[in-house]
Amino acid sequence: MSEEKGRLLKIKILRYDPKVKGSIPEVKTYRVKEAPGMTLFIVLNEIREKQEPSLQYDFVCRAGICGSCGMIINGRPSLACRTSTKSLPVEIRLTPLPVFELIGDLSVNTGKWMRRMSERLETWVHDKEKEIDFSKIEEKMDPDKAEEIYELDRCVECGCCVAGCGTIRMKEDFVGAVGLNKIARFEVDPRDNRTHDDFYELIGDENGVFGCMSLMGCEDVCPKDLPLQHKIAYIRRKLVALKNK
Ligand code: SF4
Ligand code: F3S
Ligand code: FES
Repeated sequence: MSEEKGRLLKIKILRYDPKVKGSIPEVKTYRVKEAPGMTLFIVLNEIREKQEPSLQYDFVCRAGICGSCGMIINGRPSLACRTSTKSLPVEIRLTPLPVFELIGDLSVNTGKWMRRMSERLETWVHDKEKEIDFSKIEEKMDPDKAEEIYELDRCVECGCCVAGCGTIRMKEDFVGAVGLNKIARFEVDPRDNRTHDDFYELIGDENGVFGCMSLMGCEDVCPKDLPLQHKIAYIRRKLVALKNK
């Protein structure tokens, strides 16, 4: 049926609230009339406004920037605000991202996981200067280097790569493609005074780059199309060379 005529979408949502005593996971079905340009953000808002006020899900920017609306859409981790209903069949199954702490229904606490990973990998510039002199003008960066950093900084910490990685199900401390991408980002930053040995300390083990089994799910589902595979392989090669020195 054409979009103009409006399909009647069958939205199946896994509902469960761990905060409510006695709550048991159940799949509930909602019917929503498809409209032109409809995204899953609009669908979920419509369900909450007209059918299920208690439905929990997260959105902030609606533009693929904040990374808060990651969920499993017909079996695939994706951003709901960037998913148009037109690209999906009539029956749409929505479940929360696995791995992360469940807040309720489709809402998960990616922030807690990301914070733990960031603290562990120290994902901030370790400046060459001990004391930062704010009166000093920052040195100009080579444009190619700046472009490379900008490219890797496009990660919105949505958690889709984590949810799409089988390794994390087996090793809960694995830092995932998102963590390895962060290291790739700081490793090229000329303002960061950490050495390769320092980075090796952070990710040179089974919970870091040597834990990745090249399953490639991360790159397949990354909504920002980051070159995760390439970066992971690059870091691994570099660390192996360092280890064998
Ligand atoms: Fe999301 Fe991609 Fe960042 Fe992973 S690397 S958190 S999939 S934007
Ligand atoms: Fe996981 Fe991606 Fe490696 S899916 S195993 S981090 S290649
Ligand atoms: Fe911000 Fe979807 S609401 S990425």
